[in-house]
Amino acid sequence: MTHIGIIGTGHMATHLARGWLDAGHHVQFGSRYSETKANLPKQSPAARIVSNYEAVQSAEVVVIAIPFTAVKPFAQQHADLLRNKLVIDISNPFEHLPDNRIAGAEITAQAIGAGARVVAAFKANFWQTLLEPIDPKSGIVRDVHYVGDHDADKAIVAQLITDLGFQPVDCGVLRNARVLDSMVPLIVELDRRLGADHRFSWKLLGN
Ligand SMILES: NC(=O)c1ccc[n+]([C@@H]2O[C@H](COP(=O)([O-])OP(=O)(O)OC[C@H]3O[C@@H](n4cnc5c(N)ncnc54)[C@H](OP(=O)(O)O)[C@@H]3O)[C@@H](O)[C@H]2O)c1
Repeated sequence: MTHIGIIGTGHMATHLARGWLDAGHHVQFGSRYSETKANLPKQSPAARIVSNYEAVQSAEVVVIAIPFTAVKPFAQQHADLLRNKLVIDISNPFEHLPDNRIAGAEITAQAIGAGARVVAAFKANFWQTLLEPIDPKSGIVRDVHYVGDHDADKAIVAQLITDLGFQPVDCGVLRNARVLDSMVPLIVELDRRLGADHRFSWKLLGN
């Protein structure tokens, strides 16, 4: 069992939590409004909502599931706690990165500073598919791409992805998050254009 602190209480946070709770992990949500958020998200009734600080402090793995523009300030504010802790950054920069010369997850790692252990993952997985790891139309297991600079950390993330029922796809070093960041607007455009209602996934075949 892994102690997972998910920062955010939105769509991605609650659906990831549901899957990891079902797999036997311990999950806590971090929220800016932990004292006033009386209602636990319906997908995750077994998980408590605590402050962002407490969620980070008590977790072995921290999942950052808040808007991209909030990630850097969050990482800077909690840098001392996040250092030497496995951090999964799922945030998508979209138009907030002027070019593809640096990835959102690289900015997160820089904000944490020396000792940062950031893995980028789940970026192109719509929340609508998180509890549907097998595509019902094709029967194919959906992929989750992940990147990071430390093999031991990536092995933990691969297991967490597997625990949700998805196929983990190791896409290399953290720098490759630049590519993952660019794949997201494209799948959003394809999904919208072809009317897939947030059900599309990228899939690597043939291996
Ligand atoms: N939507 C998708 O399908 C999808 C897919 C892949 C990746 N992502 C990425 O995952 C992240 C979360 O997406 P989502 O769809 O779950 O968003 P969401 O439903 O809007 O939830 C975001 C959560 O972030 C917290 N938050 C909002 N503004 C914040 C701020 N300024 N500082 C700190 N926390 C803040 C809020 O929690 P509290 O109010 O409780 O603090 C909120 O519940 C985003 O970065 C997104 O790009 C989304």
